Amino acid sequence: MAEAMAAGAGFDADWLRWREPADADARDPDLLRDWLAGLPDGGRVVELGAGTGALLRACLPHLRGAVHWQALEADAGLIARAEGRLHSWAGTQPGWAVEDGVSTTLRGPVGRCVLDWRCTDLAAGVPDLEGADAIAASAWGDLVSWRWAARCAAQAAAGGMRSVYLALNLVDGAAFAPADPLDGVLDRAFAAHMRRDKGCGPALGGAAAPGWSLALSRAGYRVRGASSRWALGPAHPLLTAAWLEGYVRAACEQAPPLRASAGPWLRARLAQLARGTLRVAVNHADLLAWRD
Ligand SMILES: C[S@@+](CC[C@H](N)C(=O)[O-])C[C@H]1O[C@@H](n2cnc3c(N)ncnc32)[C@H](O)[C@@H]1O
Repeated sequence: MAEAMAAGAGFDADWLRWREPADADARDPDLLRDWLAGLPDGGRVVELGAGTGALLRACLPHLRGAVHWQALEADAGLIARAEGRLHSWAGTQPGWAVEDGVSTTLRGPVGRCVLDWRCTDLAAGVPDLEGADAIAASAWGDLVSWRWAARCAAQAAAGGMRSVYLALNLVDGAAFAPADPLDGVLDRAFAAHMRRDKGCGPALGGAAAPGWSLALSRAGYRVRGASSRWALGPAHPLLTAAWLEGYVRAACEQAPPLRASAGPWLRARLAQLARGTLRVAVNHADLLAWRD
C-alpha cells in the first residue's frame, strides 16, 4: 500500500527500508511463487514504482532461470540508493553476486537477473510495455486512478502480456488493539485521503484490489487475490511509529477539525507502542492476473 507517507512529499528511503521486512512477511507466498513460476525463462518484467528495489529483492531467492527486470521509478534519489541496497542484500544471500555495468546483473545459485532502472514519471501515462511478459508492482496499485488501471490492463492485454502481479494494495480499515473511540473517525478520514490524486488521477486507495481486479478481468485476465496484512506493533517499532504519524497527518489534512483530538490519540498510541501493548492490523491485498 502507498498509505500514509504518500500524504507528504514522496516516499523517503527510510520509510521504504523500514517497510521492506513487513512487506516481505505480508506478501502472500503462494501468489508470489506462482507468478514467478509462470514467467518464461528469459522473460521480461516491467516493475511500476520500484522504489529502491524491494520487490525484486523479495523475488530473487525464488528465481529459477533468467529474467530481465526493468524497474520504473520517478524518484532519482531512490534509484541512486538501490545499488547499495542490492549489494547489501547480496552480501547476506549465499551464492548471490552483483555485477555493476550499463545494466546490473544479479547471479544466484539457480537464477539470474539483468536489471535496468528508468527514471520516469508514470503520471504521464501507462509506460511502453512493448516486449514485456509481465507487469509487477508492490505498494503501488492504490496510488493510481481507475482510469489509469483500466488503460494499463487494456494495454497489457493488447501487448500480449502474460501476467500482472500487484502486491500490497491498500484495503480500507486499519484495526487497533486496544481500541479507542476515535479510531473509526480517523480511519474514515485516512481512507478518504488515500483516494486523493497522487499524480495518476483520483487514487483507487482502499478500493485498489477490486478496481484492478475489474480492470484486469475486463481486459481478459483471470485474477486471484490474497490477503497481505501488516501486523504492526513492537516487532516493527520504527515502521509502526512512522505509519502512525503519517496516518494522523493524512487524516487531519483530510478533516482539519480532527487536529485537536488526533494529537492526544497519537501520543497515546506512541506510548502504547513504547510499552509494547499496541497492535495494528493494516490490511492489504495481493493480486495475480494471468492469461494463457
Ligand atoms: C509506496 S512506494 C513503494 C516502493 C516499492 N515498490 C517498495 O515496495 O518498496 C511507491 C513508489 O512509487 C513511486 N511513485 C509514486 N508516484 C510515481 C509516479 N508518478 N511515477 C513513478 N513512480 C512513482 C514512489 O516514488 C515510490 O517509490
